[in-house]
Amino acid sequence: MHLSKEEERILAGEEGWARARALEVVVKVGEALGAERLQPIAHAHVSGVSYYNIGEPGRRFLEDLAASGAKVSVPTTANPIGFDLDSPQGLDVLDISPEYVRGQMAILNALKSMGIQTTLSCTPYYMPDVKRLRPGNSVAWGESNAVVYANSILGLRTNREGGPLALMAAIAGRTYYYGLHVPENRVPRVAYRPGQGMKLDEARIGVMGELISSMHRAEGPPMLEARLSEAQAKELGAAMGAAGDIAMVFLPGITPERPPKKVREVIEVEASDVERRLEELAPPAHVDIVYLGCPHASAEEVEELARLLRRGSPRPGGPRLIITMSREEEERLSAEALEVIRTFKGLVVRDTCLVVAPLRRQALSVATNSYKAYFYLSRRGLKVGLEPAERLAERLVSGV
Ligand code: F3S
Repeated sequence: MHLSKEEERILAGEEGWARARALEVVVKVGEALGAERLQPIAHAHVSGVSYYNIGEPGRRFLEDLAASGAKVSVPTTANPIGFDLDSPQGLDVLDISPEYVRGQMAILNALKSMGIQTTLSCTPYYMPDVKRLRPGNSVAWGESNAVVYANSILGLRTNREGGPLALMAAIAGRTYYYGLHVPENRVPRVAYRPGQGMKLDEARIGVMGELISSMHRAEGPPMLEARLSEAQAKELGAAMGAAGDIAMVFLPGITPERPPKKVREVIEVEASDVERRLEELAPPAHVDIVYLGCPHASAEEVEELARLLRRGSPRPGGPRLIITMSREEEERLSAEALEVIRTFKGLVVRDTCLVVAPLRRQALSVATNSYKAYFYLSRRGLKVGLEPAERLAERLVSGV
């Protein structure tokens, strides 16, 4: 691999032991993949920071790394953990012991001492540092939904990094020039088109993401010929990242890069296939929890839910409402929306991903508009069904 003078200097330890070791890891992985050079990055996002996932070995690793003097060289954000920092025991479907909180806080302290912003959200793309980046900038992000969002909506360039590798890239300030950092690899060759009469709501878009992930074998990202809102594009990316290993979907009109003049093949996604799959994934008539916020909800998504809820009053004995979102997006919520959520006894939970949280072993049934939440929470043993936000609101409102 060709290294610049600066990179050789770092590798020789002139900027400290930790930065040299981090760069060494990035170089080794890059060489194994056949990368010819490194790529400076403007931002990093690390996943795999929940005590539930990495436990004591992960805590020790991060504390040792921090004690060795490791510091990130670029603005770096972190994925969610298993509870809200302001109220660790505030969500009774979670089993959060004092020891668990201690283990998690030690991880967060190690991250902070390395200079990582403990934003604890899977939507780094809503954060101010990221909004300042420009299409074409390279970043190193873990967290599959954020990776698809970065490549497809913001025009940033990132591969789907594992949590530790994103951390090494953050410390080194570089990743390997490979995959989606290379412009030719970002050109779609196969396009998909929603079949005639397909309704494009977030639940159907999630299912479409699953179907495209299972069909797409061509080089380059898939292209989807459909007009999607930001929230729908986010949902599609999250579904594709969960159901397969897709890291980018080219969305004409949204993806900042110029679409190709023509593609090799256009495949229609049949509306009947989407409906059949949606029926398979439908929640039961009775659900305990209505869940919104996987990926973490934007203020706009919650405002839209509040608008739907204003149609009526809370249904007696109806399901509980749980919303996960970042602190930054919660601050943008209007007082009216917060009031509606309060009236419906809804809980806004920050810093948290239910998938990486210690759930109590309850036979809970959940309705969500997120394919990704369905995908992972059903693997955690919950009974999860998928339906659009409009239907979720109907479950909560009486007399609609
Ligand atoms: Fe975010 Fe967790 Fe869903 S990290 S995308 S809330 S699975």
